Amino acid sequence: MAPVKEKAVRNITFDELKKELPSDELHRLFMSVGWSDGSETPDMREKFNLPFKNSTLVVSAWIGDKLIGVVRVLSDQVVRSVIYDLVVDPEFQGKGIGRELIERCIQHFPHSEWLVQTEENTAVYYEKIGFKRDTRAFLRIASKWF
Ligand SMILES: CC(C)(COP(=O)(O)OP(=O)(O)OC[C@H]1O[C@@H](n2cnc3c(N)ncnc32)[C@H](O)[C@@H]1OP(=O)(O)O)[C@@H](O)C(=O)NCCC(=O)NCCS
Repeated sequence: MAPVKEKAVRNITFDELKKELPSDELHRLFMSVGWSDGSETPDMREKFNLPFKNSTLVVSAWIGDKLIGVVRVLSDQVVRSVIYDLVVDPEFQGKGIGRELIERCIQHFPHSEWLVQTEENTAVYYEKIGFKRDTRAFLRIASKWF
């Protein structure tokens, strides 16, 4: 695992066990990168952590009680794993935290295939940390949540 870079804040802790993260911290993190505009109903806000709680694996990065990065994985824990919602607080981006979150996920199921669906500009990021483009068809039924 590549070390978190020198310029990283030293007191970051990574958690690989906790899946029931505080919804308000997750919401703040999603807002910080523009994934939420704050228009969710109180009910949706309260359930913000459900996709994480229901995932196979969640790896989170913390400074004290502040959530500064997170990623979640759906996996059969053997051959197929899919990455969702990798996000690092803008204040802490570029310090190797995103890479560390992904590497910690991969260590849990090291023989698995790893998939991620992302925007073109972020695809470059995943290529940088070891993913290869796949030209097979990608098909979907859209979520009713957003
Ligand atoms: C994408 C994201 C998670 C990267 O996290 P990060 O902690 O800043 O990334 P890292 O510091 O681990 O970067 C690892 C390497 O990728 C590079 N990199 C970072 N963001 C990049 C980007 N958008 N495009 C290309 N390369 C990028 C870094 O420069 C670094 O390169 P180096 O090792 O040669 O120095 C973060 O920018 C983010 O939260 N963005 C908004 C949410 C998002 O788009 N998430 C992905 C959804 S699938």
